[in-house]
Amino acid sequence: MLEVKNLAVHYGGIQALKGVSIKIQPGELVAMIGANGAGKTSLLRTISGLVQPASGEVFIDGKLANKIPAHKRVAFGLAHCPEARRIFAQQTVHDNLLLGAFLRTKTEKKADIEQTIDEVYRIFPRLKERNTQLAGTLSGGEQQMLAIGRALMLKPKILMLDEPSMGLAPVIIDEMFSVINKIKATGQTSILLVEQLAFRALQVADRGYVLEQGVIRVEGNAKELLKNPQVKAAYLGVTH
Ligand SMILES: Nc1ncnc2c1ncn2[C@@H]1O[C@H](COP(=O)(O)OP(=O)(O)OP(=O)(O)O)[C@@H](O)[C@H]1O
Ligand SMILES: [Mg+2]
Repeated sequence: MLEVKNLAVHYGGIQALKGVSIKIQPGELVAMIGANGAGKTSLLRTISGLVQPASGEVFIDGKLANKIPAHKRVAFGLAHCPEARRIFAQQTVHDNLLLGAFLRTKTEKKADIEQTIDEVYRIFPRLKERNTQLAGTLSGGEQQMLAIGRALMLKPKILMLDEPSMGLAPVIIDEMFSVINKIKATGQTSILLVEQLAFRALQVADRGYVLEQGVIRVEGNAKELLKNPQVKAAYLGVTH
């Protein structure tokens, strides 16, 4: 479904990724854990085509994507929810969701898109309650939900989430993880979840990777990573 092989990324003299290889199967939820500056965002940006790797390959749905520009990777079913949520503040919640389906409007009926909006509202009842509200006036947590909802409007095969819990209150974080679970339960979308909340991420994930200074240090079944002494000491100590 999604595979990267030996990815190297440099920013001038800084080497952010030093030969990273990961794989995500259809319907799988994979957590990417790592400290600040480990290279997690760089990895997502390289997969989505916003950063060009110095070497290595990105395969989306079995196709080599290195030479495919970011906007066309979206058409392959790759959705990326970046760290800083980018929503259209002056548009309503409903219109933000419609804009998320823009690529589909060329080939699909309006009724199909409306149906996806209903599905997104089912996952996020809070967005439904606020469908006519201007997105810029939503709370931080609601804006994050809208950003994810908008990504889901594409009916993505792969959804990449960059720290969806960032800046949210504990109660909203619980809601966010339950939403991630719901998306997983549909079985339609593979998820690559980057999270500082390692314990929470590994609890919902099937598998996980630990990225340290641009290198994958540990990988495996999420339940095993939760018990792994090395992972516990470095990433699970504070939260649990
Ligand atoms: N555009 C850029 N130009 C120069 N250096 C960059 C750029 N983007 C990232 N870096 C550097 O690359 C390294 C990896 O950054 P990245 O944002 O990928 O880390 P991260 O794991 O997402 O961290 P965080 O948890 O803080 O979000 C860092 O040292 C960062 O300073
Ligand atoms: Mg980051």
